[in-house]
Amino acid sequence: MKGILLAGGSGSRLYPLTKTVSKQLLPVYDKPMIYYPLSTLMLFGIREILIISTPHDTPNIEKLFGNGSSLGLKISYAVQPNPKGIAEAFSIGADFVGDENVCLILGDNIFYMGNQIHAFREEVEKNGNSRATIFAYHVSDPERFGVVEFDENRMAVSIEEKPAHPKSNYASVGLYFYPSDVVAKAAGLRPSTRGELEITDLNNMYLREGRMSVVPMRRGNVWLDAGTPESLMDSSQFVQITEKRQGLKIACIEEIAYRRGFIDDAAMLRLIDELKDSDYKKYLKKVYEEYHELY
Ligand code: G1P
Repeated sequence: MKGILLAGGSGSRLYPLTKTVSKQLLPVYDKPMIYYPLSTLMLFGIREILIISTPHDTPNIEKLFGNGSSLGLKISYAVQPNPKGIAEAFSIGADFVGDENVCLILGDNIFYMGNQIHAFREEVEKNGNSRATIFAYHVSDPERFGVVEFDENRMAVSIEEKPAHPKSNYASVGLYFYPSDVVAKAAGLRPSTRGELEITDLNNMYLREGRMSVVPMRRGNVWLDAGTPESLMDSSQFVQITEKRQGLKIACIEEIAYRRGFIDDAAMLRLIDELKDSDYKKYLKKVYEEYHELY
């Protein structure tokens, strides 16, 4: 399975924060926002990743991760010249996807799933080549999102983009899994009234074919989108409170690469060595030392 991380958009809702800095490079507490969706892909076991961003921001994101090899990943980059919608990721990434299944994650979506991620991964694998899988999260303000209704077999019944009268409280989160036919389907999309290739229109193509599975993310999972000043602040506070209490970091990509076995001891020590003196460096040293004490 391949992964696309879409870190485009103009970040207009965060203006003037985003006048010179890409939304996905803004801090969410102690690390750039893009670390969070990247860590989610890694936790799903996805190591071949295309990052799509604006012409202005792509070089900076590339400075952060390079080709990904220091994290045991294979990262490539592509540019979305204009913010023409989420579903454009599949025409920009058509060659990258090839004939593999693919996961798309949005650059401002922050997940904290704990061990549930294993069950989610199994659901996605079960659907395999035959169906697409989206995740639904119960929210108090569904009208801000894509809203999904689903039946007892967890098949989507309706998906509507930012409806004035939502049919459920379940938001469709920015994490989507598709069979490789997504590229052909996306090529058939036409821009919506707001001039974008809508992810909801793409999802509705699968729905109409009876091929759209919905996995509810129940209580105990956290999903935040950091696309507005308020939700950005909420996200920082959530990460700060959780990290401070546990002494464990969320979305620490080096730790994930190490614990998941993407990199060995020597590569982990190199990563630590390269970091400037900081709490982040101290934390990674501790991760390394504790790993050797405990196992
Ligand atoms: C996009 C999607 C929407 C989804 C949301 C999740 O909205 O269009 O369906 O619920 O991401 O973050 P946007 O945030 O681009 O307005």
